[in-house]
Amino acid sequence: MYNIVVFASGNGSTLQSIIDAISENKLEANIPLVVSNNPKAFALERAKKANIPTYLIKEKDNEKMDAELVQVLDKYNIDLIVLAGYLKLIGKGLLSKYTIINTHPALLPKYGGKGMYGMNVHRAVIANHDDYSGVTLHYVNSEYDRGPTIMQTSVKVLPTDTPEDLATRVQTAEKIQLVEVLKSFVQNAYNIK
Ligand code: GAR
Repeated sequence: MYNIVVFASGNGSTLQSIIDAISENKLEANIPLVVSNNPKAFALERAKKANIPTYLIKEKDNEKMDAELVQVLDKYNIDLIVLAGYLKLIGKGLLSKYTIINTHPALLPKYGGKGMYGMNVHRAVIANHDDYSGVTLHYVNSEYDRGPTIMQTSVKVLPTDTPEDLATRVQTAEKIQLVEVLKSFVQNAYNIK
């Protein structure tokens, strides 16, 4: 089985879309672990409800956090790590061991970088009167939102959109794109094996 570890810092609706795709047999994969840096993340509740083990990161310092995660994840047989609303920078140890992808709620390279996450992105897009926003799925490297793009989907910004309206439509597109790309990762892994 293709094993996807999901990292999440917040609500976890993106995690939920992966859980749902698996339980509806749209995605042939398993989530052996959900990792979070935030004890209050609702993502942890979602994981528990789906009987998925969770791990709460102890360290606060980035380098120590990297070493901690390398040790914890070593026990698992991991094909892919998905950052689903995870707000910490990924360290060298994890980057050298795993394929890691991130979903970002904008058309990178626009609206990326430190501090550009969730509603901050949608507020900035509306404030700049952009005609289009969207979602970017990309490989993770040592900089926020700078790794190579895997796929992008555009979402039209309507003149009447509030940041919340835009967030809703972007997140709908984001979940579809993520599950499609995950399916292709699983397919490729099976073809290679
Ligand atoms: C998602 O839209 C994700 O793209 C974004 O946070 C949201 C998390 O929602 N991530 C970033 O902005 C990372 N730079 P969720 O907690 O409901 O899955």
